[in-house]
Amino acid sequence: MISIKGLSKAYGSVDTSLLIVLKNISLNIDEGEFVAIMGPSGSGKSTLLNIIGMLDNFEAGTYQFKDQNVPTLSQDALAELRLFNIGFVFQSFNLIAQLSALSNVELPTLYTGVKKAARRKNATEQLTALGLADRVDHKPSELSGGQQQRVAIARAMVNDPALLIADEPTGSLDTETSVDIMQLFQRLHKRGKTIVMVTHEEEIAAFADRVIRMRDGKIVDHGVNT
Ligand SMILES: Nc1ncnc2c1ncn2[C@@H]1O[C@H](COP(=O)(O)OP(=O)(O)O)[C@@H](O)[C@H]1O
Ligand SMILES: [Mg+2]
Repeated sequence: MISIKGLSKAYGSVDTSLLIVLKNISLNIDEGEFVAIMGPSGSGKSTLLNIIGMLDNFEAGTYQFKDQNVPTLSQDALAELRLFNIGFVFQSFNLIAQLSALSNVELPTLYTGVKKAARRKNATEQLTALGLADRVDHKPSELSGGQQQRVAIARAMVNDPALLIADEPTGSLDTETSVDIMQLFQRLHKRGKTIVMVTHEEEIAAFADRVIRMRDGKIVDHGVNT
């Protein structure tokens, strides 16, 4: 599904000071894998994840997603590819405070061309599947951290993407709630979703089938698929 070769990424410019944050990264992720990316703070995990999620560009190397050559795509083509193929989950949930859980989950469906009634039904079903049927009208501030993250996962899944990308998804949650969220990820994985998750906690990474380890912008261990 994902094939990255010789990828490098820098911030800044040659004139000022160039910070090379990803150095000659090569990485393959197969459809259906559940991969964790670990490494010290500042090692480039989020940068790599954002590139995989097509939210960020890079200076050198190649990135093939399914049969698409990502660097050659226009902004519009990238946006469409993302919309139907990739769901995003973040440490801080990134829900819209003014909107209900249901409206948050409906957001990624707005530009899919699906009729309103069908979009609402789908969003309701996503929330119901995550145990939030009685919370659809609640605002994020009226929900616990674990519930907010489940709303975010429902939003990530609403267009049925093949790939779920998660940056420290349990970073704001207590241990028990973190395990709940990881069990949810494992259920999605069993249903065939490909998951790429950044974490700095070994206990969380243990839920994945493969652990990739980074240090100073390089992959130092590709892990083995267990
Ligand atoms: N927008 C940016 N501008 C400049 N430097 C950045 C930017 N984003 C990240 N960095 C730097 O890139 C390096 C890698 O950051 P990041 O990918 O967030 O690491 P991690 O997620 O592993 O903690 C860090 O040194 C960070 O300071
Ligand atoms: Mg990070």
